[in-house]
Amino acid sequence: MQLMMLGLPGAGKGTQAARLSEAYGIPHISTGDMFRAAIAAQTPLGREAQKYLDSGRLVPDELTIGIVRERLQEPDTANGFVLDGFPRTLPQAEALDDTLKSLHKPLDCVLYIHVPQEVLLARLTGRRVCKSCGATYHLVYQPPNVEGRCDRCGGELYQRPDDTEEAVATRLQVYSQTAPLVDYYRARNLLRQVDGEQSIDAVYADIHHVLAEMQ
Ligand code: AP5
Ligand code: ZN
Repeated sequence: MQLMMLGLPGAGKGTQAARLSEAYGIPHISTGDMFRAAIAAQTPLGREAQKYLDSGRLVPDELTIGIVRERLQEPDTANGFVLDGFPRTLPQAEALDDTLKSLHKPLDCVLYIHVPQEVLLARLTGRRVCKSCGATYHLVYQPPNVEGRCDRCGGELYQRPDDTEEAVATRLQVYSQTAPLVDYYRARNLLRQVDGEQSIDAVYADIHHVLAEMQ
């Protein structure tokens, strides 16, 4: 199954994509995670991407399209994938169409997690991420069992540098480049909207329902 998550920063794309990845046995391909891994490893890509991520701006299309194109050709995508955070611009969406066409892996569904902007600041400033395994928590909505530690692996939890109020404001502005993708995929009859202002479990149940109806 070839899936894509769409929605504002903090809508819950990563949280739901991680669950879908486990449930369907397909890789969770997050460009944000790929950039953060490259930054941690201080690769040339990471050094280039860092200034964009830290301030909440988009990494240039040329860089982003290249890494996704490579990633989609890896063998673990044989049964599909769930894309999270890509595409974010119309040129990225068009490049993805070309890539998936050449790989004979058309998209099955674009899951658009819809949330009002007011809830996002609280979600993002309260988010904590595991340094070791990348699992996502929230101080209030999804707290870990032991403060500051990951339930899964015991790793240390940290706050993303772009989850400050200032960077979040930039990310919300920058989203104007991504918003047209809603119509892009709606016109292709791939878009399915899910109410993201419910509990994490309720959002997942709705997604599950959408996917079950498709089969
Ligand atoms: P990326 O990592 O993709 O960030 P994003 O799109 O801003 O999305 P987030 O990860 O912030 O939010 P999410 O929707 O995944 O929410 P989550 O599930 O974590 O990108 C980061 C940066 O990388 C970009 O700014 C850019 O610089 C660069 N980049 C990445 N892709 C790019 C591209 N294609 N082109 C160019 N540049 C690119 O949830 C958020 C919090 O809320 C968590 O704490 C979670 O526990 C909680 N939560 C989730 N769901 C619920 C719920 N239903 N109720 C209550 N709390 C909830
Ligand atoms: Zn962990």
